[in-house]
Amino acid sequence: MAGPHLWLRAEVKPSEHRTALTPEACKELIGLGFKISVESSTDPSTKRCYTDEDYKAAGCEIVETGSWPTAPKDAYIVGLKELPEDTSPLEHTHIYFGHCYKGQGGWKELLARFRAGGGKLLDLEFLTDATGPPPRSAFGYMAGYTGAFVGLDVWCHRQLKTEGAYPSIDAYPNEEVLFKYIKPRIQDATAGAGGAPRVLVMGALGRCGRGACDFLVNAGIPEANILRWDLEETKKGGPFPELLDVDIFVNCIYLAKPIPPFITREMLDQDSRRLSVVVDVSCDTTNPHNPIPFADKNTTFTEPTFQITPSGGAVVDVVTIDHLPTLLPKESSDRFAADLLPTIKGLAQQEGHPVWGRALELFHKKMEEAQTA
Ligand SMILES: NC(=O)c1ccc[n+]([C@@H]2O[C@H](COP(=O)([O-])OP(=O)(O)OC[C@H]3O[C@@H](n4cnc5c(N)ncnc54)[C@H](O)[C@@H]3O)[C@@H](O)[C@H]2O)c1
Repeated sequence: MAGPHLWLRAEVKPSEHRTALTPEACKELIGLGFKISVESSTDPSTKRCYTDEDYKAAGCEIVETGSWPTAPKDAYIVGLKELPEDTSPLEHTHIYFGHCYKGQGGWKELLARFRAGGGKLLDLEFLTDATGPPPRSAFGYMAGYTGAFVGLDVWCHRQLKTEGAYPSIDAYPNEEVLFKYIKPRIQDATAGAGGAPRVLVMGALGRCGRGACDFLVNAGIPEANILRWDLEETKKGGPFPELLDVDIFVNCIYLAKPIPPFITREMLDQDSRRLSVVVDVSCDTTNPHNPIPFADKNTTFTEPTFQITPSGGAVVDVVTIDHLPTLLPKESSDRFAADLLPTIKGLAQQEGHPVWGRALELFHKKMEEAQTA
């Protein structure tokens, strides 16, 4: 019997170059009997980090961009981000980040499209595996990794006294290119500043936190300048004056319950402050218990920072980008696809795979909620 048919759709969200299925993953799945159709992706603003040719060489069928509505009804439509904005009924089973299970704007409308078409959503954000972390964890590591990069780069920008605000950023083809850019900059900035920056990573034992620390090490920041804080260091309760004594603060915690702030806006007014860059990877910008209360709006690749101007002191640049892994789409996709692959293989199980079974149960629960909300 033929294996499952996966249809990898082209992304439509601007600046999204990641993919849930790499050519390497596809090759392995095809070897197991899967059929894989891949929508051509050539628009520069959404171009997949792997080319159509890469997928063709892996044995995939290349199909027209955006043609998934016409895919055979038994095909799983695989993607990462939003579907094109539309009201048409959804007839297929979709695997992607639907962003509609936590009451987000438009959640009822999206689920209504599934109801109208008889389709289903197996949401990547909510895959739960009894034996390990959910596949989404892969993006956490790369969020911390690229967040630490942006923090260092902003610090360099200020040290090198480059004119104007920190400019827009864009995805790098791979981390080799990124390091070729940042390493000489760190050297120059460090020479100008009289030493390497001190960086405090909060939540250093988590996925984002480990990524942030690994980036700092790979970028050549001396171990003594990397302060790794997690629950043990914050158990006395904030705010923490120690945060004023580092150059860059990278917040990577998972905010599971209300906690006192780590740092307040008033603290930035202190004359003795060293802190000049805050990267809030956690991005709890609208959470009433946000432990960095002044990091209260999201920044973007186009405008990566906003500034706080304390009384009498130098400005503090704040970074709150909520899609950081997109900066290194290839490495992010490789990690994500490798983590997702065992679960994707489970689609072939005739008796049903527990991860997908739970995802389907959740979908039905949310459909009920949407009807009564
Ligand atoms: N900006 C982005 O692009 C992006 C991408 C992915 C994830 N995230 C966000 O990053 C956050 C962290 O995700 P994760 O996967 O790394 O979580 P995680 O659970 O793997 O790690 C969180 C860490 O924070 C620590 N922590 C929690 N409360 C703390 C406290 N009060 N003091 C000190 N340490 C504390 C935990 O002990 C843990 O080590 C989440 O909010 C997630 O949504 C952001």
